[in-house]
Amino acid sequence: MNFSKIAISCFAAFACIAASAQVNKYCMESPDGKLHADFWLQDGCPTYSLNYGETSVILPSGLGFEMRGVLKSEDISFAKDGGVIKKDLHPGIMLNGGFTVKEITHSSFDETWEPVWGEESSIRNNYNEMLAVMEKCSNDGVYKMNMRFRIFNDGLAFRYEFPSGQKHGYMVIKDELTQFHMADDCFAWWIPGDYDSQEFEYTASYLSEVPEKLPASLRSNSSTTPVDNSSVQSSLQMKMRNGLYVNIHEAALVEYPCMHLHVDAASHTLSTALTPGADGWKGQIQTPFNTPWRTIQVATKATEQLASRMILNLNEPCALEDVSWIHPTKYMGVWWEMIAGYGRWDYTTDFQTVKLGESDYASAKPHGKHSANNENVRKYIDFAAEHGFDQLLIEGWNIGWEDWANCNKDYVFDFLTPYPDFDIKALNEYAHEKGIKLMMHHETSSSPRNYERHMEAAYQLMNDYGYDAVKSGYVGNILPEGMYHYSQWMINHYLYAIKEAAKHKIMVNAHEAVRPTGLCRTYPNLVGNESAMGTEYQAFGGIRPGHTCILPFTRLNGGPMDYTPGIFEMDLKKWCGNDSHVNSTICGQLGLYLTMYSPLQMAADTPEHYMEHMDAFQFIKDVPCDWSESRYIDAEPMDYIIVARKGKEDGKWYMGGVTDEQARDFTIKLDFLPEGEKFTAVIYQDAPDADCFTNEQAYVISTKKVSSKDKLKLHMAPGGGFAVQFK
Ligand code: NOJ
Ligand code: CA
Repeated sequence: MNFSKIAISCFAAFACIAASAQVNKYCMESPDGKLHADFWLQDGCPTYSLNYGETSVILPSGLGFEMRGVLKSEDISFAKDGGVIKKDLHPGIMLNGGFTVKEITHSSFDETWEPVWGEESSIRNNYNEMLAVMEKCSNDGVYKMNMRFRIFNDGLAFRYEFPSGQKHGYMVIKDELTQFHMADDCFAWWIPGDYDSQEFEYTASYLSEVPEKLPASLRSNSSTTPVDNSSVQSSLQMKMRNGLYVNIHEAALVEYPCMHLHVDAASHTLSTALTPGADGWKGQIQTPFNTPWRTIQVATKATEQLASRMILNLNEPCALEDVSWIHPTKYMGVWWEMIAGYGRWDYTTDFQTVKLGESDYASAKPHGKHSANNENVRKYIDFAAEHGFDQLLIEGWNIGWEDWANCNKDYVFDFLTPYPDFDIKALNEYAHEKGIKLMMHHETSSSPRNYERHMEAAYQLMNDYGYDAVKSGYVGNILPEGMYHYSQWMINHYLYAIKEAAKHKIMVNAHEAVRPTGLCRTYPNLVGNESAMGTEYQAFGGIRPGHTCILPFTRLNGGPMDYTPGIFEMDLKKWCGNDSHVNSTICGQLGLYLTMYSPLQMAADTPEHYMEHMDAFQFIKDVPCDWSESRYIDAEPMDYIIVARKGKEDGKWYMGGVTDEQARDFTIKLDFLPEGEKFTAVIYQDAPDADCFTNEQAYVISTKKVSSKDKLKLHMAPGGGFAVQFK
């Protein structure tokens, strides 16, 4: 299409003419007309801004890259003495100036698609799109870089596209120069950016306060590449002083490093801080190449942000032909007892340094606390099967746990050989007879090369014994040394593991991997990630109440979390001498099955602890983990969340809520229920004197006849919550 015509029609349609006669602004509007974005070249620099109605959200912000060419064979010649002569490395090019716009095209898109699992059974994907084709002529040739924008009712997204057919087909990214100049010193809920982990508690502060509140030293990793000490992680939830909720994240993170956001306190400008590789460069690309989407979600209410599906919509449709083997899964685990310190993953303390293939476990002296032993596993199988669970996770089943993490050891686990007291064949058969599956555990100890070395055999072993889901993990510093968990190299590894698993019809739940960016739409066998501070920290010193009231705005924006809820015994000292305390109530734990959406939900506590509260455990047994509808009723980041959902399979409505350290009382309209029908609401709520620090197990279960015209009064204790089932 002819560029000038499009530009003119765009100006005519949106009356969006720049103040300066020389600057052509290209404008975009969301389908409902409420969001407006402009794109233009400011002295040759790609620039954009975003408004909600009359309100400015993003002030003019620059886009671009600093690139370096790569050494190619034509840059190398051989000297007479046989030595190698390298020409000067490509000196680098700034791709944030000197551009001209060659063409602008506009289009619209509107479809409804059905996720394999999710918070609803169908999702509308509706946006207006604009593609700006650009070129920059420099001494060493022409650089082509396009910007593709999509504007939805719930936000703006854009990505960079480097088409093929340019001289520099290979480029090294020195820096991505995307800016988000916030129109306001927004209030933000953030965790520090360390390129390595999301296992932090959140800080709530104005953007201008971020640098002073960031921890001075983030990590003791051996990486040679320093951390940007002024960056926070995405998805970053913010609130403007005028009440608009703004969230910045990325979608479809593929073959590219994870983005953190550097905060300039004075101007409240956020700019991309990409995770470096061990060599200090940010990434390598080969054209044609599209970056992940940079996303700015805008909502007038907190509940709208929670209901936004923009991140999923920006991902490619499902890449798997057959998805019949992917299913929502409720599971228990031989897990919490090790996390809390009651049992152990390893089998012996006979030897400290274990060499796979050489260590003789059969003659080693067991210390007697190995949890994954035949008898204990059978006990869990019996309980999980009796109460209708789909699967049982078992950790510590395989040899190598004697010296697993942070020993800089490449060849840690073989993912194949069980400890002598774990009869893999017999236990799988026993579980299958009882109608449940065992869930595999692959702790990689952050040695991805070793995992890839064994992956095919490890997945084949799962197929042989009938496992169809794996929990993988990446604890410790990544080997090779200096590589971060969120580097491009590791991003490629995580996706490789998901794709290889799909070939074996295996569902993946990766812990300590990069936080999700909606890739589960394309690869729905990615059923979960941890990638945030999960329940385990309740046994590592405790988590402040309110943590689970922010995660759905941030971590869960890109995909579900294996948060592992369901702890009923909060006094770990009484149980196993652990000084840590679980800062929640039993009803607070029940509420999480609604507020922390995941197609993979765990009942994390032990059979013994559930047996003491079978009436409350009933809710965990009943609650589904796949939904046809979801209604966010009320929420405020890091304060509280209330949601109602309709089970995809049982067609019943459920409602749950969680609160921070403040007790809260709500009167909730039940207008989400179908009209004209009567229901029995089974209500699980904190007792009036319940408290997440002092009286965690006090709850009241009651029933009430209700219809869509009624309201329910519900109480949440400090750090507590509620759950309701409508029968
Ligand atoms: C950390 C994971 O988050 C936890 O769930 C697991 O038990 C340990 N790593 C051991 O793999
Ligand atoms: Ca973890």
